[in-house]
Amino acid sequence: MAEITETARAKINLALHVTGRRDDGYHLLDSLVTFASHGDLLTFEPADEDDFTLTGPYGALLSADTDNLVLKARNRLRQAVEASGQSAPAVSIELTKNLPIASGIGGGSADAAATLRGLMRLWQVMLPDPVLQEIALSLGADVPMCLASRPLIAKGIGEHLQSVALPSLFLVLANPLVAVSTPEVFRRLEKRDNPPMDLDATATLPWTERIARLRNDLEPPARALTPAIAETLQALEQTGATLTRMSGSGATCFGLYVDRNAAAEAAKILSERKPGWYVQATQALAGGSA
Ligand code: C5P
Repeated sequence: MAEITETARAKINLALHVTGRRDDGYHLLDSLVTFASHGDLLTFEPADEDDFTLTGPYGALLSADTDNLVLKARNRLRQAVEASGQSAPAVSIELTKNLPIASGIGGGSADAAATLRGLMRLWQVMLPDPVLQEIALSLGADVPMCLASRPLIAKGIGEHLQSVALPSLFLVLANPLVAVSTPEVFRRLEKRDNPPMDLDATATLPWTERIARLRNDLEPPARALTPAIAETLQALEQTGATLTRMSGSGATCFGLYVDRNAAAEAAKILSERKPGWYVQATQALAGGSA
């Protein structure tokens, strides 16, 4: 069988409200999520023995050992596939790491989800959806949403997903290349019982205005931990964004723009001003409600 390719699209939390905390310490979220057309690239090929290669601009910053979420995803999927009586032969996987590490846009979660999607295609196997969802969630709270990779509202710790009719959005992603620890940001959160998103209250407004009335509750603790986030938001504002916000636990921030040209121009200006940063103009694809 020929090589199979999957894009691990960058996940963007357009809004992220922290509404509570579970007994095990995980936080309950209410998040409006979309996915960029840009991301990491994964290829899967049949092989004599398992193999994993990391390349791309940020590949050298990750280890290719068993801690890597791609390998964890391969191993857990293989176990479930074999337990169901199907076969999961050796595979060579290459990950081209285009997204910065520990940056609030999915990265590792998107790679794990793309591995699940790619290997099911390569092995031509089916698993019951609850089994697949359980494997995804066991790899990380954001892996189920990355598996879906379409505009959605995520609740619970990220396992309850509902499609949402978002339009196509034109964005710039900007990251000052400071890695942020997600557990550390959650630890610094002062208020853990914020109100959920009230999308019904703004149903008649354009999406940009609806998003503007929401928040990312992780922004204040992330900004306290990483001052470069404030600089990133300010730099995006100066390029004419209609809205700027941090994604996930940071440090990646996004700007929304009126159209593709405005986003491309903003990315050009920002990369000239901040040559050491990750700056990417991208589009989030439209999605309909299920
Ligand atoms: O699930 P994941 O491994 O991506 O999460 C990393 C860490 O972030 C968790 O160990 C937890 O400390 C924190 N977290 C949280 N609530 C969530 C998601 C993550 O507290 N909903």
